[in-house]
Parts: sequence; structure tokens; C-alpha cells
Amino acid sequence: MNFQKIREQDLLQFKEIVGEEYVLVDLSSLEPYSHDYTEDLSFFPEVALKPANAKEIAAILLYCDTNNIAVTPRGAGTGLSGGALAVYGGVILSTERLNKIISIDERNFQAIVEPGVINERLQEAVKEKGLFYPPDPASKGSCFLGGNIAHSSGGPRALKYGTTRDYVLNLEVVLVNGEIIMTGANTLKYSTGYNLTHLMIGSEGTLGIVTKIILKLIPTPKNTLLLLAPFASPEKACEAVNGIFLAGCNPSACEFVEPDGFRLSAALLQMTFDIPEEVKAYLLIEVDGNHFDQMMKECETISEVLYTHQAIDVLFAETANQKEYFWKLRRGIGEATKHNNTYKEEDTVVPRAELPILFHGVKEISKRYGFRTVCYGHAGDGNLHVNILKDELSDEFWNNELNTAIIEIFELCKQLNGTISGEHGIGLVQQKYMKVVMPETNLALMRAIKFAFDPKGILNPGKIFTKES
Ligand code: LAC
Ligand code: ZN
Repeated sequence: MNFQKIREQDLLQFKEIVGEEYVLVDLSSLEPYSHDYTEDLSFFPEVALKPANAKEIAAILLYCDTNNIAVTPRGAGTGLSGGALAVYGGVILSTERLNKIISIDERNFQAIVEPGVINERLQEAVKEKGLFYPPDPASKGSCFLGGNIAHSSGGPRALKYGTTRDYVLNLEVVLVNGEIIMTGANTLKYSTGYNLTHLMIGSEGTLGIVTKIILKLIPTPKNTLLLLAPFASPEKACEAVNGIFLAGCNPSACEFVEPDGFRLSAALLQMTFDIPEEVKAYLLIEVDGNHFDQMMKECETISEVLYTHQAIDVLFAETANQKEYFWKLRRGIGEATKHNNTYKEEDTVVPRAELPILFHGVKEISKRYGFRTVCYGHAGDGNLHVNILKDELSDEFWNNELNTAIIEIFELCKQLNGTISGEHGIGLVQQKYMKVVMPETNLALMRAIKFAFDPKGILNPGKIFTKES
């Protein structure tokens, strides 16, 4: 794709639109915008723009569309698939100044927010009013709600409550021609033609820029209980996950962690966490609700299931501090792995009952090719994050042969009726694997939608679709 390089006249125009101080061009100012959380990738934009509102974004898009300038929208840059990387240079369009919680409507259980609001800030603001916004990605302390929409982010609580997709009622979106639309209605139901709201969710900034979000809220569950169960057999731990549901339980989170995950996280966060030699996997299980007795009964049933599947122990987090301690360790795994090693993160997802086969297959493939993996993730959703570590592997293996192994992992996902990403998206790094799970017919339909929204292809170019497509 051939885009116009940024010229002096473009910068003048951008300064006119957003104001001089919000047009960044020097390398040190651009550096934070040159990477996200994906591996060690780095792509510098030619300019980063920090507009204040939808009107300014509309003017930027219209100008860039007219002048064939690539625009890469960006939230907090915590993504794991390279979605926010300016692979063609051009403009980074940061939503960081659109950071207002516009309103919280307690009567209708809704919030209206801008895309640059940090996930946890919204969670806390609605909690003060007795309301609950469940989606809780591991990066909730820094990720933006706009980015969550770009990938339909999940997190541990997606198990009981669903992902970001399930909480978005309506969106204000700036189209590439500068028009500003609402995609739907602020209603709990919507059967009014194609659902443009859901089309935007997960579209990774390739169709338009979200500038206002109407979110659904629910009442806050009053209590949570947290269990941690070590296992000697990771396969048995994976089998226990489905057993919990077969026993009629409905936990709010059910996370699987290999010991190395906790080990790395504890080291980075300087937390103490002793892992006995025989432990080869953990399940971290949360139950929430309003009726304590009922929740305790559910925990007892879960404990029985865990012991039936050869759990070594079932530990209860007694205090709020202990619960936070375990969750902090869990949330730290992704970042700790990145800190410790060069790595690739795969976001495999299969129907829950197939998780043991997926886990076994991943380990078999990694053994056969000779690389190490740390697996963890949202086991209750059948969503296993597979962190592949570079360790002492050669660059040659890392950049070439490993690809074949990843394809094998994804083919296994497909065989099990799963797919290649549950919550991290396709972005830059997963696009070459799209064809493993998707026929050309589906890709052609997606491309047609893309070009209906963005005929010149200036919006987040180089994402989701491969270069040749
Ligand atoms: C997690 C992120 C990486 O589950 O999705 O920790
Ligand atoms: Zn995750």
C-alpha cells in the first residue's frame, strides 16, 4: 500500500485542527507511541495527534482520507496483537484526551463514556453507585475502554458475565469521510437491521473511530469467594474445569495457571509465593453472589469436584487482602513473561470441554519442536493463553520454523471447533494465521465490509488482513 508521507503542509493542517501542542513529531515524543505490549515490536509513526473530541477526529480523518495518509488509532497501547502499531508510519491518532465519564444513569443502568477512559476508573466510578461493569482485562488498571471495544476484550469475569461486546449498547463513531454516526440505540435489545454496533466491536480501528460509548451496567454482586487449587497433573486440572459446570456450578472466574506463570509474576512483583515441587498447575476459582450460604455451598461442591480430579489441596482466600494478592499475581503473568524473555503470546480458545485436549496438544507440539511454553488463562471459557518463550532458541527457528508449530496449534484449535483468538484480536501478528481457521469466502466478506467503510484503506492499514489480501 502506498500512502502519502507526512509533509510540512500536513503538519500545518493538523496543528490547525488539534492545536500545536497536540501534534508530536520528535522521536522522543513518538517513542511511547511506537510500541504496544506485543512482543518486542516497534514501528514509529511520522506524527502522533492527540485530538480532544469527535469533531477534531472527524477533521483529521477527512483530511487524511482526502490526502491518502495512513491513520492508526490508538488507546492505551496495552494490546497483545500489534493492533495499535503504525506499520505504515503516517498518523497515530491517540484517544487519550477523550477521557471523560460523561454520565452514569442509575435509573437505566447505563454509563456514557469516552474511549480514553481507563477500564478500572469506570469500574470504580460505577461501584460507588452500587453498579457493576464486569469486563476486567488483566490490564484493567491502564487499558482504555476504546481499546477494549477494538478487541472485545474479556478477562477472568467474562466467564459468567461475557466480554466487552456484551456491555456495549451503542456507539458514536467517526467515519473516514468525517461523518459522525450513532451505530444503534441505547436499548437492551436491538433488532433493527444489521447491527453496526457489533460490527464495530472487535474491528480493531479498521472501520471507524469510536468517540462515545454507551455501556450497560448491572447490579453489583455483594460478595466474592476465592479458591486456589494446586494439582500434580495439569491435564486433571483442565478436566476439573468442565467438571465444575457439570456439577451445576456457575463460578464468576475459573483460571488455569502453570507454576511458571505464578513464579514469573511473583518475581517481577516481588511477591512471595511458594510453589511445592509436585505442583504442576493451579486453578483459581471465584464465586460471587448475594447470598453467602448459597455461595459457600457452591464452593463446597466445587471443592468436591476439584478433589475428585486429584487436586492436592483447595485453599480459601480468607480476607480481601488475600484475594487481591492472588488476583494481582494472576494479572501480572503476561507482563512478567514479557519482562523475563522474548516471547510470543497465542490466545487459543476452544469449547470448554475440549480444553484438556488443547492443553495436551500444545505441550506435545512444543515438545516435538523443542520450545518451552507457559500456559495460563481463562480456563472456564476454554481460552488458554500460550506464551511461547524464546530462551536459547536461534533467531532462525524463532522467525521461521516456529511458524509451522503455531500453525499446528491453531489447526488443533480448529479441529476442536475453536479459533485463534478469544480476546486479544488479530491485529498485526495473527493475521497470517487467519486462513487456518477461516475460508476465503469469509475473508472476502470481511474485506468487502472493510472497504464499504474505508474505500481507500487508510484506517489502521496492515491489520486483520494480510498484505496480499
Ligand atoms: C491475561 C491477558 C494477557 O489474561 O489476557 O492475563
Ligand atoms: Zn486473558
